[in-house]
Amino acid sequence: MNDAIDRILVTRERLRQRVDELAVEVSADYEGRDLLLVCVLRGAVFFLADLARALTVPCAIDFMAVSSYGSATDSSGVVRILKDLDTDIADRDVLIVEDIIDSGLTLSYLLKSLSARHPASLEICALLTKPSRRRINLPCRYVGFEIPDDFVVGYGLDLAERFRALEYIGTVKPEVAARLTGHEGAGT
Ligand code: IMP
Ligand code: MG
Repeated sequence: MNDAIDRILVTRERLRQRVDELAVEVSADYEGRDLLLVCVLRGAVFFLADLARALTVPCAIDFMAVSSYGSATDSSGVVRILKDLDTDIADRDVLIVEDIIDSGLTLSYLLKSLSARHPASLEICALLTKPSRRRINLPCRYVGFEIPDDFVVGYGLDLAERFRALEYIGTVKPEVAARLTGHEGAGT
């Protein structure tokens, strides 16, 4: 295990198994439809790559980057689009692929913004969710894992751009998190 990691919450094996299960569900639901996976950069890239390859239905992929103003571990609810889709999503079956739903503010903004473009359908597939942190109600069609209110890294998720390439999801040792974010109590 990486020296900076405190605890593993989801192992590589469990991730692989659950992503395959989600792919079975998504494949069944989108059979015969015009599926476009919208990956929210950057945290969802590994999840998108594994999910897309496990699907048995054709899909297109596109990317969006958003930034939510706030501290390293807390989002403010004010969201800005840094990179928009290249695809016209009108009449497409759009599935947003996201790494984690925390407060829900980022996705809530994305849903509003994308639904204004009149997709045929619009759903969310999130690898992780922290229900105890939710500040807004969100219809999330597919969820990989519910996790407790811990700041997690790995499998795409970062703390100050570190740890994205870990093959598991885990928490960072508090002293390492404090050093990386430059203040005490971060990474909790
Ligand atoms: P929300 O708007 O509060 O739901 O924030 C969602 C975004 O915050 C995610 O897409 C992540 O980029 C980031 N985020 C929230 N919780 C974590 C975490 O535990 N680890 C890493 N990133 C997180
Ligand atoms: Mg992030």
